[in-house]
Amino acid sequence: MKKIFQYVVLLLCSFSAMAQSDIKLHHLQCEMLTNPLGIDVLQPRLSWQIITNETEVEQTQYQVLVASSAEKLKNNHADLWDSGKVSSNASINITYSGKKLDSKDEAYWKVKVWTNKGETEWSDTAHWSMGILTYADWKSTRWIGYNQLFPGDSVSQFSKLSARYIRKQIDLKKNVKKAKVYLMGMGLYEFYINGEKIGNQVLAPVPTDYTKNVKYNVFDVTSQLKQGENVLGTILGNGRFFAMRQEYKPYKIKSFGFPKMALQLDVEYEDSTSETIKTDETWKFTPNGPIRANNEYDGEVYDARNEIPNWNTNNFDDSNWLNLTWVEEPGGFPEAQMTPNMKVMGEVKPISITATKNGTYILDMGQNMVGWLQLKVKGNRGDTITMKFAESLKADGALYIANLRDARVTDTYILKGEGEEIWEPKFVYHGFRFVEISGFKTKPTLDNFLGKVVYDDMETTGTFDCSNPTMNQIFKNAYWGIRGNYKGMPIDCPQRNERQPWLGDRTTGAYGESFLFDNQTLYAKWLDDIKFSQTLDGGIPDVAPAFWRYYGDGVTWQGAYIKVADMLYKQFADESVIKNHYPYMKKWMDYMEANYLKNDLIAKDKYGDWCVPPESLEIIRSQDPTRLTDGEVLSSAFYYHLLQTMKKFATIMGADKNDIVHFDDLSKRIKTAFNKKYLNKNNTYANNTVTANVLPLAFGMVPDDLKNEVFKNLTHEVEVVKNGHISTGVVGTQFLMRTLTENGRGDLAFKLASNKTYPSWGYMVENGATTIWELWNGNTADPEMNSQNHVMLLGDLLVWYYENMAGIKSSEADPGFKQIIMKPDFEAGLSYVNASYKSSYGLIKSHWKKSKNHLEWHITIPANTSALVYVPTTNPSKVSINKDRLDKGSKNYRTEANKLVLELKSGTYSIHVN
Ligand code: BGC
Repeated sequence: MKKIFQYVVLLLCSFSAMAQSDIKLHHLQCEMLTNPLGIDVLQPRLSWQIITNETEVEQTQYQVLVASSAEKLKNNHADLWDSGKVSSNASINITYSGKKLDSKDEAYWKVKVWTNKGETEWSDTAHWSMGILTYADWKSTRWIGYNQLFPGDSVSQFSKLSARYIRKQIDLKKNVKKAKVYLMGMGLYEFYINGEKIGNQVLAPVPTDYTKNVKYNVFDVTSQLKQGENVLGTILGNGRFFAMRQEYKPYKIKSFGFPKMALQLDVEYEDSTSETIKTDETWKFTPNGPIRANNEYDGEVYDARNEIPNWNTNNFDDSNWLNLTWVEEPGGFPEAQMTPNMKVMGEVKPISITATKNGTYILDMGQNMVGWLQLKVKGNRGDTITMKFAESLKADGALYIANLRDARVTDTYILKGEGEEIWEPKFVYHGFRFVEISGFKTKPTLDNFLGKVVYDDMETTGTFDCSNPTMNQIFKNAYWGIRGNYKGMPIDCPQRNERQPWLGDRTTGAYGESFLFDNQTLYAKWLDDIKFSQTLDGGIPDVAPAFWRYYGDGVTWQGAYIKVADMLYKQFADESVIKNHYPYMKKWMDYMEANYLKNDLIAKDKYGDWCVPPESLEIIRSQDPTRLTDGEVLSSAFYYHLLQTMKKFATIMGADKNDIVHFDDLSKRIKTAFNKKYLNKNNTYANNTVTANVLPLAFGMVPDDLKNEVFKNLTHEVEVVKNGHISTGVVGTQFLMRTLTENGRGDLAFKLASNKTYPSWGYMVENGATTIWELWNGNTADPEMNSQNHVMLLGDLLVWYYENMAGIKSSEADPGFKQIIMKPDFEAGLSYVNASYKSSYGLIKSHWKKSKNHLEWHITIPANTSALVYVPTTNPSKVSINKDRLDKGSKNYRTEANKLVLELKSGTYSIHVN
């Protein structure tokens, strides 16, 4: 069964030079936002951008041509799809509606648009090819592996398994015209042809619950193959497949067995004949290669003395290698991977190296980062260098590893003793700022080491700079934290023995992150992970993929399923995620209702308002009832909010009317019961924590006539009782900043954002953090649960940076930034903001600067979008736009509250207010 709308295929393609009008459309390379080889949906969606210097450009029509070859497309012979001239202003997510595509079909496409300012020429050509769409089309490609341990391996709490080096010599009889490989290598693979690594991905493929779905990667390998003998080489690492904590808590931690692979190589010869090469029992392997152990938590052991020169070229005798055997399939359905693999995305040079008393050295990278260290070393055969990774140091200068639990986080390199040796691991990563190096006979220099930053190959889409240095450093810390925790799924932390994709950490986090990174395909994949982990009766786990079998049936964690889909819809106008997941989301909502709704409230909650600042600095979990918000308050309010979102989804979907009626009725009942039980006579909620008040306000549960009073109480609590400090945990913090600002207290939100004293994000900065901590008291609390690189406490802070401080926000009505709401809070406390965001339509910019009597605001609105721009005055004679006075010019405006609202079309504008 194939999903029709599963994923976006964003073939972002802008225009080359244009004729027949005065629009100058700048040439920009066609850019593929997903791997265009191996598209796994029957109706991919196409997007393009109009890049121009002309202002007020609106698309009026488009025509898409799709052909089965580049040649045909060049001649406008659209044998797959000619959309015809379509009257529409839609330029993103256009559903392919041509001939039915089959496995491995090739598609070449281009587009031409007509605008109010003229028409473009045909765009450059972009391309995609279909993956293997049905199980049958794998044509009995078999899985091969070897289900045995070898000396040195162990299945234990600290599982150890050497990497498998696999080779297959093939003989290609004729000249190769085209060749493509479809590869599944579990848990992780590196693939070579004739000694050359294919692709620049690392730690591939992305992790899934391999019993549910298995991702394959596709590569065009035409240029690597030649007529005659060729060698296909693979190294298989363990990843999450051969679990890290194998026999430790099998009831909790999933394991999938020994590494295995399946591969299909399609070769088309120049004479138009073809051949398919597949994995089988003739493929050979050795467990005796240099990677002796590889375990995500414990590190990699590499013995260079075991290197096997030329093992992956045809200049090698493999007669004493073992044959792989046919093994059971992992169980999951093969799917083309539509989200990018990880890559080395940057490098960090260490800033200092210090000798310790024990003859080891402490290396400081100057930044808490995620990835690994490249080592450069000279020495004797058998010399052993170890590198142990940690986020911080103890007072005596030694590594602080207590917060890593039982993760051993050590990479080991044993030298072969042949001059300079350069090494980096292949199948592990670490979260670290400091590294303890041992084994050097003389003091190494900084040049011996280079940090490699590893995360999903996604574009950075946002920049942000403002007049407050604390807020800028928080932004930078968030940027490092978010990217470090993208590992083919969003994980909680990259260093201790956990690294799990916890749902609750990203409920709103995903939304804030979407301003900084193009995380659309990652989160679309994650929604699939969640769906695949749903139980038959509708429950979804706390962690997905459910590598840890936790099914706590909460609302606030599980609700991420719905909230992340809502984010993808709002930020990327992605309706497909709603269409794909609606039935499963509804099933979960029904399941919660059937099992946990009592007296119109939901009492089931697992984690509370996780990680509120506790009563004493040493503890992790507060026991103080005045700080904790009742679980029923959290779950019921959140469930109410999700019902509202489901109602919206049902409308978008055109779902059964009964669904809408049901969501609506139930939410009304919950609201009534909630206010009856928890709204106090003094217009506070429950025990009057900030979270207990902020949720009903943010979700629209407060009776209209009491809103002001409840909000006043909320601000009193934040401002007076908590002395302008954070008192919320993971749940409350998701709504705090926006609720304060949208109700007129941006200044209080600014105070929270710029605070340097405990508890605050700025307090982390003041204490040397270069990422975001798991706990507000992360520098003093017990190490048992105290990571220094968790992103969940960001709450809605980044959303607030962009939407409320920069004024870059997508409207709900026209999502994906088709209509942009530019409404910065100029009064909150900043004197300038300079921010940008690369939306699906193009670059949005907002740069404002104010002095006592003057505001200067430069904005950029991409072609084919418009913006509602809120200028902070009611007097149009004080406003100029691109030097024209507003009251004398031609721009339309209206007055709303104490602002002028302009509706601007695309272009770059300088607005001055005197
Ligand atoms: C994780 C969190 C997670 C939480 C839930 C922690 O151990 O690191 O990020 O959300 O557990 O209880």
